[in-house]
This record gives sequence, structure tokens and C-alpha cells, in this order.
Amino acid sequence: MKREVLKFPDPRLRKKALSVSAVTPELQALADDMLETMYGENGIGLAAPQIGESVRLLVIDTRPTDEDGQPTDEGMTELERQVKQPIIIFNPEILVAQEKTKYDEGCLSVPGYYESVERSRYIEAKGLDREGRELLIRTDGLLAICLQHEMDHLEGKLFIDRLSFVKSERIKSKIKKSGYPTPQEVEEERAKVREARAQAKAKSTET
Ligand code: NI
Repeated sequence: MKREVLKFPDPRLRKKALSVSAVTPELQALADDMLETMYGENGIGLAAPQIGESVRLLVIDTRPTDEDGQPTDEGMTELERQVKQPIIIFNPEILVAQEKTKYDEGCLSVPGYYESVERSRYIEAKGLDREGRELLIRTDGLLAICLQHEMDHLEGKLFIDRLSFVKSERIKSKIKKSGYPTPQEVEEERAKVREARAQAKAKSTET
């Protein structure tokens, strides 16, 4: 079942999420709802607190899609390709984080806003999969960024908290004052960001 995605400044997004002691059928159903919600919103990741559930659970699928909407591995790094997606991960923990990178991030809980955020370029993370088995992920690229972004949600933290104080306050007060852009405006902004990313990628491979 598709669920409603909470938006900043909803206080439920600010709670530290609780660890899972065992993966129960109820938690598996929650993970399935989250995947449906994420795909329904054209997102690449979703954390349980974003649908009001205080659980340390993430779902992620950063694979690009072709014209028919089928997942491809085009443009993914070697490491990203080795990770089976979609990912369902309970109690995620980062074991190793190396080097820094910057990426224009967005968030389903802050629709229409995209800002450059610094994250680790390479990470190793562990957690439990949908069956409660140990899951180990070694990755870089967009998947590494997405994992770090989603893990922030489990601490009650949003990407707009990671900007400079001035920028962060400007965005927060604008949203509190005038709300969010319309779904159509959000879609237009998304298309612009996608185009800019494609151009940046083309440029970086032109050398
Ligand atoms: Ni987010």
C-alpha cells in the first residue's frame, strides 16, 4: 500500500528512529509499502520516518531506467553494479567512509529543493536484509550518497540541515512561510536538475 510521505517541518521527521530486534512479517510488509511509496513518488530512496514509522529501515533503488522504465546499469560505477537493487536494509550502520564528494541532493520530504551536499565518496555499510540476514554493502557513486542521505533520516536529520547556516535558514523559513511548490513545479525543477546532471556527466567524460 502506498503511504503518505511526510514533509518538513513535520516533527515526526525529527525523531531518532528505533532499532529493529528481529525482522517480523509486519516489518517486511512495512518495507514493501515503502518500496511502493518510493516508486510511486519517483524517488530513489526512502526511510521509514518519512512515512511516520520510527523504525531503522531504508529502501533504495538508484538504478537508472531506460525509455520503457526498465532498470539499466548504464552510467553506474563498477561497485554500484555489484550491489543487488532494490535494497531493503534494517539497522544500517556505516563501517567505513572514505574521501569526500559533493552532489546536488533532493528529498521527497523537501520537494522542489536541490542543494549541493558534501558526503563520503566510498562507504561500507552493514545491516539486515528483508529476510533478517546480514547484508554488507560496499559502494561509491550515487548509491553511496543515497545511503548516507537516508541514514540521516534515521537520526531525524534532513539534507537541508547540512547546508551553510544562512542557506539552511533561508530555505526553512521560505517553506514555513509559503509552503511547497505545486507538483507540476516540482516536476519541472526535477527535470532541470536531471538535465544539469546529464550535462555534467557528459562534460566529465569529454576529456
Ligand atoms: Ni530524503
